[in-house]
This record gives sequence, structure tokens and C-alpha cells, in this order.
Amino acid sequence: MRLSKLASDIAESPTFALNEEARLLKERGEAVINLGIGEPKNKTPIAAVLASGAKLTSGDVKYTPPDGLASMKKAVIRYTEENYDRLVAPENVIITNGAKQSLYDIFYSILNPQDEVIVIAPYWVSYPEMIKMCLGIPVIVTPEDGTFTPRFEDIERAVTSSTRAIIVNSPNNPSGAVYPPELIRKIVELCERKGIFMICDDIYHKLTFDHVVAQPAWSFTKKDIENSHIIVVNGVAKLYGMTGFRVGWVVGPRDLIRVMTNVLAQTTSCVSPIAQAAAEGALNGLQSVVEALRLQIQNNRDVVLQEMRTFTGARLVEPQGTFYALPDLRAFNGNSVEVSKFLLKKAMVVTVPGKEFGMEGHIRISFAGSVKDITEGIARIKWALDPTSPNEIYIGDRKMIRDWM
Ligand SMILES: Cc1ncc(COP(=O)(O)O)c(C=O)c1O
Repeated sequence: MRLSKLASDIAESPTFALNEEARLLKERGEAVINLGIGEPKNKTPIAAVLASGAKLTSGDVKYTPPDGLASMKKAVIRYTEENYDRLVAPENVIITNGAKQSLYDIFYSILNPQDEVIVIAPYWVSYPEMIKMCLGIPVIVTPEDGTFTPRFEDIERAVTSSTRAIIVNSPNNPSGAVYPPELIRKIVELCERKGIFMICDDIYHKLTFDHVVAQPAWSFTKKDIENSHIIVVNGVAKLYGMTGFRVGWVVGPRDLIRVMTNVLAQTTSCVSPIAQAAAEGALNGLQSVVEALRLQIQNNRDVVLQEMRTFTGARLVEPQGTFYALPDLRAFNGNSVEVSKFLLKKAMVVTVPGKEFGMEGHIRISFAGSVKDITEGIARIKWALDPTSPNEIYIGDRKMIRDWM
């Protein structure tokens, strides 16, 4: 069968692939613990359930304007004012099918073939693939070994005449790093000086710990939104635990939003009004749900730190946000794909290989789930890899003995 080379070269989403493997193992009755997927376990906020339920029962479920329902855009405008101290117009906002579509449509709208986008490692797996799908070139900037925060000089050095954007994801998936305000300020200034876009993937922006703040890029520019080069991406997936509703949004210069609206109109037409109503409900409802989730995740992060303390040989940079940790396991095996496969086979724990995030030798552990899963999952990882840990463990009701070291 002859298929597009461009499409065929796109990598499978590793988290979805691993999830499927875990699901199949679970179906076979195996005691699998999934530390792979990045989604909170909370129930949908009640305000979102009621709003989407009302929309559904109205029976008025039709196409919406491609850039989103006026009322949903209004909720985003209010969110932007409250959280970013920026007054924006409806023309600066587009509602998308998840932050994923926001990002893809941004790349599609700003890139010409062979244009470059600077991506900071470790990066969310989809950035390089999306950029390639839009015929652009991802240029990876990797921090010094042992840290997850890039050096500004390395970012500056990567800028060429073909650079169109720098994508910044802080708090960062997969490392949990929150970049220092000074770095954000320098990137804002660099983008303004060079006339390139700064794409801020803010999907985790309120999920930070111990009073660390993810400083918004907008706070470092005096330019108005039309002349600024900042594009902000956000959504309800992570902060409200509403991954399945598929609602994200972009706030940016109106010329960009106009082009993105045409792209979205010609591809997916609009976001389902039921999903938009749910997102609107979440944004207009009680915001204590976000704080409750943040506190629960911070507690989970503390459990991870405690469990990792007794993991001889593993090195962990403390996550300051998100719900991911990215331990360095090079002391055991530098090949993270092998490590993840080994952990699934021997310990029935799903993790994601760091190689997928541009950080070989590490594995990503999601701590969005229950404390029980986190504690037991890390105990199993230690048992599988660390010869100083006890060599017997229960996996489900089976007693397992480590006999490979
Ligand atoms: C950094 C980052 N950006 C964007 C997304 C996509 O979010 P959504 O579910 O709204 O498409 C994710 C989801 O995992 C993410 O981790």
C-alpha cells in the first residue's frame, strides 16, 4: 500500500501505546500499575458536569463558530485577566479540541517548509512530531547534564535566520521543572529582539509546589498583545482533570488567531458545544477544585520524593510542578526503552522511556494517580533494579523473587 512518507514517518504516541499495553495486561488479570499516563484521577468538577448536561438536554447541539462559542471565549478572557493580568479581546482567542490542536494549528499557521522551532529538552513528545508534520524542523536545546533547566546562551545560540519560534513548557512535562523568572524574561526579550514567536505551553501553569510560581511570559513585556510575540496555550485537561473533554485555547495576536480559525474551520469545524459548555462551567465555577487537585498532587509528589530517597543509584531532580518525575537511571542501564520494557515485564509497572522526551537514560513516572499506586509502583521499580532492595515482593497475590542479579 502506498502511503504518505510524511505521515508514515510520524512516531506513534508512546504514552498511548504503553497505555494500551497496560490495558491488555490488566484484562488478562495482571496486577499492572500504570505510572505512564498523565491524567489526574479526580471526577469532573460538578460545575462542568451541570453546564454540559444543560447544553445536552437543551437539544441545541449544533456547529458553533469555528473560533468558539462567544460565552466560552468570554470565560477565557476572564481567566486571562485573572491569571495573567492581561485584558484581551475576543479576536485574540480561539477555542480548540484540546491544547494538542492548539499547538498543531499554531505550528501550521506560523511555519513555512524548513522553518525552525527551538524545542527545549526534555520536551513533551508531541512537539517535534507536530513540527515535522507542518514541514518545519525541530531544533533541540539540551540542558547541562544533571539539570532540566536550559542555559539561556544555548537557546540564543540555536537561533538562526530560519527560526520562527521557541516553545517553552514550564512547568515542564516530563521533568516537573519550573523555569526561573529570569530565564523567562530573557527568552521574552530574545523573541522580541529577533521577531520570533514565544509559544508558552501553560497547560500545567497552576500545578506548582511549595509556593514556586511559574512566572507568565506576559509579565515581562510592555508590548500590547498585537505587537507582542507571545502566544499562550492552555486548556482544561490538566488543571481541572478534564482530559476527555478535549478543550484547549490559544490567546495571541489577532492576525494569528484569524489564520488559525481558518485552519480549524477547514479541519474540525469547531469544538463540540457540549465540551465547550463543560469547559465554560469549569472556568466559571468554583476554582477551589484546582487548588484541591494541586494539594493532592503536591502530596503525591512528596510521597515520590520519600520513596525515591531509598532508591540507591537513582538520581532525581525534585519536581516543582506538573505530576511527573524524571529519575535518572543510567546507573542501572543507559537505554531507557530497555528499562521501561524490563519494568513492565518483571514488575508490571508502566513508565515512559526518557528517550521519547529527548532525555535518554531517564524514565518518566506520573504521580497523578493514587498514593497506593505510587508507593507500590516505586517499590516494584526498586525491587526490579536496585540490588540493595529486598529481593522478595508481592505483585498482586503472587510472591516474586528477584533472580536476575
Ligand atoms: C505539555 C503538554 N502540552 C499539551 C498537552 C495536551 O493537552 P490536551 O489534552 O488539552 O490536548 C499535554 C498533554 O499531555 C501536555 O503534557
